[in-house]
Amino acid sequence: MKTFYITTPIYYPSAKLHIGHAYCTTIADAIARYKRLDGYEVFFLTGSDEHGQKIQRTAQAQGKTPLEYVDPIVADFQELWRKFHISNDDFIRTSEPRHEKVVQEIFRRIQDNGDIYKGEYTGLYCTPCESYWTELQLDENGCCPDCHRPVEKVSEEAYFFRLSKYADKLLKHIDEHPEFIVPTSRRNEMINFIKQGLEDLCISRTSFDWGIPVPDDPRHVIYVWFDAVINYITPLIHKPDMQRFWPADIHLVGKEIVRFHTIIWPAMLMAANLSLPKQIYGHGWLVTDGDKMSKSKGNVVDPVLLVEEFGADAIRYFLLREITLGLDGNFSRDALIQRINADLANDLGNLLHRTLNMLGKFQKRILLAADDLTDLDKSFRAEALDTAAQYRRLMDNVQLSDAVKAVWKFVGRANKYIDETMPWKLAKDETQRQALANVLYNLTEALRIVAILISPFMPVTAQKIFNQLNVTAEFKLSDAETFGLLEANHEVGKPEQLFPRIEVEKS
Ligand code: MSP
Repeated sequence: MKTFYITTPIYYPSAKLHIGHAYCTTIADAIARYKRLDGYEVFFLTGSDEHGQKIQRTAQAQGKTPLEYVDPIVADFQELWRKFHISNDDFIRTSEPRHEKVVQEIFRRIQDNGDIYKGEYTGLYCTPCESYWTELQLDENGCCPDCHRPVEKVSEEAYFFRLSKYADKLLKHIDEHPEFIVPTSRRNEMINFIKQGLEDLCISRTSFDWGIPVPDDPRHVIYVWFDAVINYITPLIHKPDMQRFWPADIHLVGKEIVRFHTIIWPAMLMAANLSLPKQIYGHGWLVTDGDKMSKSKGNVVDPVLLVEEFGADAIRYFLLREITLGLDGNFSRDALIQRINADLANDLGNLLHRTLNMLGKFQKRILLAADDLTDLDKSFRAEALDTAAQYRRLMDNVQLSDAVKAVWKFVGRANKYIDETMPWKLAKDETQRQALANVLYNLTEALRIVAILISPFMPVTAQKIFNQLNVTAEFKLSDAETFGLLEANHEVGKPEQLFPRIEVEKS
């Protein structure tokens, strides 16, 4: 069986998740669901990144142990993913013993290969970002270039990973595998970064203890990023699943953490004699009025409230449609409501409602065999199949937004087909019975195909459409690539509203 492995980053349980995090997980979920639809055996992993000084400090400030502090936050993550219908196959917590074991094993392996050594570290550390910076990298105020908060000078005995040794090997790999870092802008950025030279990486700390102990030297805990990236192999290693799913097909990550995934992680894998992931996809950020959402800026949108108000499918649709993967995209409530009303309630909702309504009125909800098709009927059928073919091409190329748009173009076409064929007129003319049957059959088939194509984006809506069409088959991509699977005499259900229109108060 064909296999496919996709991951999201594991999220810090330091703050509530916002809609930006849900964006990343929704993309990964849509890809995972698409691959399952196409017959792959999929492994989809997400999780939480729980170690580090920042978590320890926050927990202490609240009079809690780190675990007491993170447990309820992680439970909230899992609840949020459930509400978003995220279909992850495993959820990794870096505080789990299974992960600790693997991190220590990889540490030992790299150490045995001579690429971890002990030295003295003096550096500038940004605690909120868990990142070390050099003088040169600091911003104009001498602060962290990412979050612009002050950095601390830290000096300690530490273990180092011989990252410098891997610069040429990494460049060669990137050169030989153009698909390794996507999009190209990120690829070029990483090439330039490596060409400036890589320094060995400090991978242990003694200033706090909330982390995975260095094997045989437990005064040190392993640097949180070294620990975190290993999550991607924790559930697989030493199992037959390792052969089946590793190397990962896609690590989907936000653009600011591409460096950890395309330089440090691959170098660690090389040092541990493991193969490299096939692709790292750096997606853009969800912004509100051009600014990245973050708690400190106070512009976060709470995904739980949003789901309660609009439902997961509508939000998933918006995120997948509005934002071109790789670029930043704007989130706004007004734009979301507009999409719900225009695309979901109007275009899709009406298509389903009109079709089932007419079937009820004119044919007692029974499909009749199509025969003697007009040119218009034939071209409509061809467009359905073209849409499915285009969708497959786009989805295989991870162009999710374009794939959504292709389906909606066809939904628009189907609504127009109703206006052009005017089934209510055909119904009044006894000699047009067959023509009417053809139009209603084609529309029902079109809806069956649309439901399959949207199932990775909007799993609940897709199922609702199948239920109303009274189709009990499993969702399969190949079924969307065949026109005419519904049999004559099939009885459809009654129309029910898919999406209510949202009334907007005029100010
Ligand atoms: N814990 C690390 C990842 C370790 S992976 C081995 C981390 N966690 S995070 O919680 O800060 O961010 C997780 C992901 O959420 C990142 O890929 C980040 O880009 C993404 N996002 C955070 N805010 C975002 C937006 N506003 N928009 C889109 N994605 C955003 O980094």
